Amino acid sequence: MKQTKWWKNAVVYQIYPRSFQDSNGDGIGDIPGVISRLDYLADLGIDVIWLSPVYESPQDDNGYDISDYYAIYHEFGTMEDMEALIREAEKRGIRIVMDLVANHSSDEHPWFVEARKSKDSKYREYYIWREGEKNQPPNELTSVFSGSAWEWDEGSGAYYLHLYSRKQPDLNWENADMRRDMYQMINWWLDKGIGGFRLDVIDTIGKVPDQMITTNGPKLHEYIQELSRETFQNYDIMTVGETWGANVDNAKLYSNPDGSEFSMIFQFEHICASWSEYGKWKQEKKDFVKLKKIFSRWQKELWGKGWNSLFWNNHDLPRVVSSFGDDGRYRVESAKALATFLHGMQGTPYIYEGEELGMTNISMKDVSQIRDIESLNIYEELRQKGWTHEQLMAAINGAGRDNARTPMQWDDTENAGFTTGTPWIEVNPNYREINAKAELEDENSVLHYYKKLIALRKSEEWKDVFTDGEYVPFMDEDEDVFVYARVLGEKKLYVVGNFHEVERIVVLPEAIKEVLLSNYQETEKNELQVALRPYEAFIAKV
Ligand code: NOJ
Repeated sequence: MKQTKWWKNAVVYQIYPRSFQDSNGDGIGDIPGVISRLDYLADLGIDVIWLSPVYESPQDDNGYDISDYYAIYHEFGTMEDMEALIREAEKRGIRIVMDLVANHSSDEHPWFVEARKSKDSKYREYYIWREGEKNQPPNELTSVFSGSAWEWDEGSGAYYLHLYSRKQPDLNWENADMRRDMYQMINWWLDKGIGGFRLDVIDTIGKVPDQMITTNGPKLHEYIQELSRETFQNYDIMTVGETWGANVDNAKLYSNPDGSEFSMIFQFEHICASWSEYGKWKQEKKDFVKLKKIFSRWQKELWGKGWNSLFWNNHDLPRVVSSFGDDGRYRVESAKALATFLHGMQGTPYIYEGEELGMTNISMKDVSQIRDIESLNIYEELRQKGWTHEQLMAAINGAGRDNARTPMQWDDTENAGFTTGTPWIEVNPNYREINAKAELEDENSVLHYYKKLIALRKSEEWKDVFTDGEYVPFMDEDEDVFVYARVLGEKKLYVVGNFHEVERIVVLPEAIKEVLLSNYQETEKNELQVALRPYEAFIAKV
């Protein structure tokens, strides 16, 4: 079947349902809440919603621990609500991409409940068990959420593997029955008319725990190709794999244009560039030369050989305006400049809820304010290693996942219009200034800029340049400025901007003819030499 690849020109918007819009006053966002905001999203101009998990779950990791793949988590709504969301979105030309967690399930999933009961159960082999003795885990593998990745199961006297929380046992992809059950469930959802899947930590399904191999295991691509063949390839959908261990070489397999694996992947090289031996909890100053080189390498390497996803943010990452921009004086300018830099490239752009408003990180003072299991665990772990409370809160405020999970800021009424009840996590106090209602009324807001950026990307005149145009970078070694061209035949665009507060004169390789989009109001640029004000950015034709 010939793939139409509609997703190459699509813009995706990620919704973290727990934090987007509450409709019934319980303080937790839900599916009817999402439906009530579809007009806002249609107006923004997006084509796809990636919905973080809405399946039945004990919510140990906010839904990334699924106990029933065929049911909707009751606090988010019902299956009827989900079907209504798919229908209502479709009416507005928006497809729903679901989040699929196939590396692990919840320990409350009936498979695991059965697996635990008896070593003879057929479900025992759906998970990864090792014999051993209590307090002597099979090896040193650690969980991403701190501590050993092996949990002793008292009842059956053995260890099971969990790369995430102990309530997220890893599924055994060696087991053909498990894989078959998984494919059946995926097809069941695809038959409901969804637009595709985002596949959670999919690069770990080929793990070889005894050799300490987690990502990029020897059978990884074999599994993914089978998965794709048995499911995705029979539908006109988009798929995106979450792959922290990806590099430009295996990305060409993952996003092979022949459609044998996924449409595209999320790779994290630009995100991890400043991490230290403590990972994201201790970071070096951002190096923009390094950052540009990473983007350039991915742009060039996947040219004609794969497909990039373009993102700064998701529900696991701090807010981009706080981590790469300036969330103070130049919040509006820097949010727009970062959007320009990213959306000008080749690939499918992703906007995470609130990014289009320039929402910022939150500053928490006390552990009681933290909701994220990862931050709570790292607090304990590093506290024991001697970090002070202040150091830990600074690290968590800088890099913790709750930054992305504070409620969407809709207006300046109590709780930012997110809920009439008590929100499950506190609202960022800056909602009185930063909110969708205010930005809709302000022509110069970050929100309006995103709308224009999306419209330009989709315009008849420039659409093919954004989708297919070659990426040509300039001024690689410049720490402040980004300049690249997108070229398709006779058509050429320049994407130019300033990552910092400094003022800079830049000599372009060619004189520009017309500025198509700019984050400063007065822009008269039709020459070779341009003066860039703090965080100024523009897209121009030559
Ligand atoms: C990646 C998800 O994005 C994250 O939120 C989750 O905690 C882990 N995978 C485990 O499912």
